[in-house]
Amino acid sequence: MSLVLILFLTCALCYFIRAKWQIYAVGRRIPGPWALPLVGNVQMLDKLKPECKHWETHRRALSPAFHPHILSGFTPAIARYGDELVRKLRATAGMPIEVRECLFACTLDAIIETSMGKQLNSLTDPHNRYTHAFHKTSELLFKRMINPLLGLDFIFRRTKMCRELYASLAVINELMISVIDARVEALQLQAEFGLDLSPATSENGIRKQRRTLLDTLLTAEIDGQKLTRAEICDEVNTFVFAGVDTTTAAMCFVLYSLGKYPAEQQKLIAEIEEYSLRYADLTVDALNRLEYLDLFIKEVLRYYTVVPLTGRQTTTDTVIGGRRYCADITLWINLYGLAHDEKYFESPELFRPMRFVNTQNERLPAYVYIPFSGGPHICIGRKYALLIMKILTVQILRNFEVQLSNPNEVLVLQAQMVLKSLQGFNLIFTPRTMEG
Ligand code: HEM
Repeated sequence: MSLVLILFLTCALCYFIRAKWQIYAVGRRIPGPWALPLVGNVQMLDKLKPECKHWETHRRALSPAFHPHILSGFTPAIARYGDELVRKLRATAGMPIEVRECLFACTLDAIIETSMGKQLNSLTDPHNRYTHAFHKTSELLFKRMINPLLGLDFIFRRTKMCRELYASLAVINELMISVIDARVEALQLQAEFGLDLSPATSENGIRKQRRTLLDTLLTAEIDGQKLTRAEICDEVNTFVFAGVDTTTAAMCFVLYSLGKYPAEQQKLIAEIEEYSLRYADLTVDALNRLEYLDLFIKEVLRYYTVVPLTGRQTTTDTVIGGRRYCADITLWINLYGLAHDEKYFESPELFRPMRFVNTQNERLPAYVYIPFSGGPHICIGRKYALLIMKILTVQILRNFEVQLSNPNEVLVLQAQMVLKSLQGFNLIFTPRTMEG
């Protein structure tokens, strides 16, 4: 019996290596940090062969959902979750806390409410089964990604991990479907009786009906056809999964950098005071005035490139830098390596937000600073992510002084789905008093 199993596994491995070798060989030539699960990454991207037409039409349908006008309506909801986060951090009473879990819950809540109009309350109820399902799904997808054997569907389908993944996905799907159905009904009532049941926000005392990303999808048409419920579920899943882990990781590095560089923290506080934003509502206009915050976040996203690698599939023979690549292979773009290349960034190992003032004048070559990638596949949620990050950063800064719990600790980074710190982010939040 065990001999048959060994024989079967050997054949499966040979089949896998043969099928992937050419792509793997190209992936290995990419310089820069060794993204450990390279085989897994290559294998996953290989699965995502570009279905250009499908992607193009869907991207076009989705883009209006991220229009600055719509995003600016999200600020009160995001700030509400920021307040919740502040309450949670205040309860630590100056004791060290590993902050990633809280940030994950806060980002998930903010993205689910602003994209779907649903209040998940993961921050206040950490045992919420939806939150657990989102966590579990991310974890299992990553485990599958780094294990080449599990890349083979016929093996994966027979594992306990597969059953767990489908169970988590079923919980998420149930949530998506109930929210979509409720929203479809609300939109029908609105059309028939003029009742507007959109989630409401209040700005300067004026009640505003808020349009969610889901509303844009429900009203979008592709070739004169509305999207089906399954397609809408797919799209919402894509941006929730693409958005939550990345924005959480970015916020972890923002808070870590505040603790690591107290002088930067002081400059940011001074800016918040200069614009009298101690108690003021955080509108997009107010946030846009905070230029140093913008530089600081830019530098965090350079220094800690949240998505360290991305891939592109060649559809025809392609020449890059004088070298010819054949069609149908995956090329790796080393975003982390680019952001730390001294050809483009002077003393790249130094954390210096002001470098972006100089580079604004001199202009970096195109596609050098690309934390959100570039070209047609550039991150669709980048402005959304920056909005969330700016609101949460200001809320935390005006309430706390952030310190590292162990200033001598050196972060050990690892490229997983996103860049992670192996020891987590251990910080102390001491309540602060400010002027203004
Ligand atoms: C700081 C946070 C974020 C970072 C660093 C980030 C980074 C990226 C990167 C590098 C890509 C890959 C594009 C490529 O392969 O060229 C991407 C794609 C994507 N991101 Fe983000 N992202 C962030 C936040 C978000 C948010 C908040 C959302 C939405 C809620 C989002 C939605 C997406 C989607 C849908 C794609 C696929 C785009 C496409 O192929 O059309 N991202 N992101």
